[in-house]
Amino acid sequence: MTEAKLITALNKDNLSHISKTYVPSRLLLGPGPSNAHPEVLNALSLNPIGHLDEAYISLMSDVQKLLRYTWQCNNRLTLPMSGTGSAAMEASIANFIEEGEKILIAKKGYFGDRLVDMATRYKAQVSVIDKPWGEAFTYEEIKYEIETKKPAIFAIVHAETSSGVLQPLEGIGDICRKNNCLFLVDAVTSLGALELLIDEWKIDLAYSCSQKGLSCPPGLSPFTMNTRAEEKLSSRKTKVPNWYLDLSLLNKYWGSDRVYHHTAPVNMNFAIREGLRLIANEGLENVWNRHNTNAKKLWNGLESLGMELLVPEDYRLPTLTTVKIPPAVDGDGFRNHLLRNFGIEIGNGLGELSGKVWRVGLMGFNSCEENVNRLLNLFDTELKKFSIFESSTF
Ligand SMILES: Cc1ncc(COP(=O)(O)O)c(C=O)c1O
Repeated sequence: MTEAKLITALNKDNLSHISKTYVPSRLLLGPGPSNAHPEVLNALSLNPIGHLDEAYISLMSDVQKLLRYTWQCNNRLTLPMSGTGSAAMEASIANFIEEGEKILIAKKGYFGDRLVDMATRYKAQVSVIDKPWGEAFTYEEIKYEIETKKPAIFAIVHAETSSGVLQPLEGIGDICRKNNCLFLVDAVTSLGALELLIDEWKIDLAYSCSQKGLSCPPGLSPFTMNTRAEEKLSSRKTKVPNWYLDLSLLNKYWGSDRVYHHTAPVNMNFAIREGLRLIANEGLENVWNRHNTNAKKLWNGLESLGMELLVPEDYRLPTLTTVKIPPAVDGDGFRNHLLRNFGIEIGNGLGELSGKVWRVGLMGFNSCEENVNRLLNLFDTELKKFSIFESSTF
């Protein structure tokens, strides 16, 4: 090609004026991503090595061991999938559903809807049980539905990031086993932050993300499955209809063969190894306690400033608090003010809660007393500037 025919950077929309990449400093106290730990960022910035290099293979084994600890399980097939939480969510559906199979989805927010959408695309026979956003299911409700609907898979979100609800999971695994059903859990906003006992709670399949409790950037989705799930996978009559997320292929790379499947995002795996190592060093129970303590401090502080929280304390989610926007307040105005003038991100409500709540996240590295105090102080001093009526109080 001659020089004249090239679309040059100089004459194409003045591309030469695009500056070196710059990202403003932010404290991410929304629904995620959360800030990455500085040690994670150091690991992320290392030069890549080959994804079949023996040094990398040894690092992969560390990631798997650390993940088993963080998931509290002994599952052989435990790995970080390439892609954000939705990738492992889709893998959980694509690999375990065959056309016409029954899945029961307990839906109490936005991410339950996403499970329904995915299961429908993979041609499952989908049954849904619904709860209003802000409420959790009872053990009895779930037991009744599984016993009467007899699904092949029961799926539920542990920590519903859209509503701020923490769903109790104990006992559901036993119901699933008695009814010959796989128990699938979305742990995107709980892994590495809240009590989650995969083996003890008899969870057969679970997935999460890297950008919340694990203090990493988005890009990987930890996944784990036990032998019940392995048996279901190996008894499939049809090929998994998604090549990239096919667990039997991924198993050849993450299992003992270490055979190439796709080029692993090696730097993200350096990062997750570091995030998981920091959790193991702190101790899982200490990590859970830290998240609970900081969340309680936030809840008490907000309530003493007159704010109302959407979810009752019994099933309120420590990693994500939904705060009702007082009727006399410009919710977007306050949120934008925090971002533009203080570099702090909090989230708007999602879906049907949009404009009704703010979503405040305390996850991973960001769950610390200093961040809670900083945010409470801003609610105290800045919120009044966003009152729609001059004289209103909340
Ligand atoms: C509960 C839940 N499930 C699934 C997802 C999807 O994960 P991702 O956005 O990383 O793909 C999210 C995202 O925040 C989530 O909060």
